Amino acid sequence: MTMNISRRTFLRAAAGIGLSAAAHPWPLGAETRSKVREFRLRAAPGHAPLLGAGHPQTAVWAYSGQVPGPEIRVRQGDRVRIQVENRLPEETTVHWHGIRVPNAMDGVPYLTQKPIARGATFRYEFDVPDAGSYWYHPHFRSYEQAGRGLYGLLIVEERDPVPFDRDIAWLLGDWRLDREAQIVDDFDNRMDAGMAGRIGNLVTINGRSAAPLRVRAGERVRLRLYNSANARIFGLVFRGHRPLVIAIDGQPVEPHAPANGRIILGPAMRVDLMLDMTGAPGERFAVRDTFYPMRAYSVGEIVYADEPPRRQRPPGPPPRLPPNPIPEPAVEKAERHTIAFGGGMMGGADGGGIWTVNGKSASGHAHEPFLRLKRGKSYVLAMHNNTAWHHPIHLHGYTFRVMARNGRPTRFREWQDTVFMDPDEKVEIAFVADNPGDWMIHCHILEHMQTGLMGVIRVS
Ligand code: C2O
Ligand code: CU
Repeated sequence: MTMNISRRTFLRAAAGIGLSAAAHPWPLGAETRSKVREFRLRAAPGHAPLLGAGHPQTAVWAYSGQVPGPEIRVRQGDRVRIQVENRLPEETTVHWHGIRVPNAMDGVPYLTQKPIARGATFRYEFDVPDAGSYWYHPHFRSYEQAGRGLYGLLIVEERDPVPFDRDIAWLLGDWRLDREAQIVDDFDNRMDAGMAGRIGNLVTINGRSAAPLRVRAGERVRLRLYNSANARIFGLVFRGHRPLVIAIDGQPVEPHAPANGRIILGPAMRVDLMLDMTGAPGERFAVRDTFYPMRAYSVGEIVYADEPPRRQRPPGPPPRLPPNPIPEPAVEKAERHTIAFGGGMMGGADGGGIWTVNGKSASGHAHEPFLRLKRGKSYVLAMHNNTAWHHPIHLHGYTFRVMARNGRPTRFREWQDTVFMDPDEKVEIAFVADNPGDWMIHCHILEHMQTGLMGVIRVS
């Protein structure tokens, strides 16, 4: 967060002296080709002050010593080059969640690359075609590697800055800690796998518990919400405020108030909010997570500074985010396929806990595709969650439109890369199969994925 603010301050200062990024002094194409942005990530054991000063640090796995890892912030059209050095006690890979990368850069072990060996370095390099809120995390034993703290933000800024006073990200994390604040290492717990996944007992925002959001009255903030938890689902309520959803999974959506005033975030999902700070100087408001109604709690707090308001009333309608260049599926002519998700424990320990995609339970890593699509054609995937559990379903390499839920057209035909499915829900998604390769589709509750809720779609 501090990093953001100082960068913003710099950008404002730069704009003040006439370096406005809004005008392009040379053709955009030329600029796009010339910008290569380089980063290094070092995955290694480390420590994180999850509970803050005065508490023991937690032994974690971290990128470059930080939880969350360093923020990668680039501009739409940039080329990104990231050296990943593996200093973990096991192999790893990195997946760039939501970015429409070429298949070889997708970070899926044995499917798109060999895992990065201990001590080895792998270079990822790709263009970022779409602006928005993305993130990165391992795809090798991710239920343990992400569960120990490996993930970070990847933010792609719009080509022309969008007028918010501040751009803030909240990465929600979930940890299962013991009394000494150390990670409980029952990552193979079968009960978790067969039921709701590994839900922890400490929720953090940007790697800290109970971190307040300090604001000034009258500000207009873009708040990027991320769920990086293995399994916890969030249902956030911003007391005293009227947030508007302006993007989902990084993709602009018609600005709207969330249904029932609650923002639902399944694992891996992102929601960008426009948040007008309509409180008064000195006020404080809780941000509550009410997804599991019997266990509602305060996840964070909005704390107003004593300074006088930045402005007296909100600055007009929400700014429009420019759409990303995603091809529009020809839904009428699209070929339809059905996908059924099955399995899981129905309540008690019934010895199940194995999940299926179209009747098959994937084990290990490499898979034969269960679906073959023709490059360039439009498809509708009609998915049925034939289980008693929630599943956030993620498709790699693509952003798809969510067309219908339980047979009824969606209001916003949202572009998403991870779609939240209720128990027994039917969801139809549509996309143009323009990105060739073998792509994973899986539940992002990482324990479900590990125990079979995954498959491969081949586009060729
Ligand atoms: Cu964010 Cu296959 O994952
Ligand atoms: Cu699942």
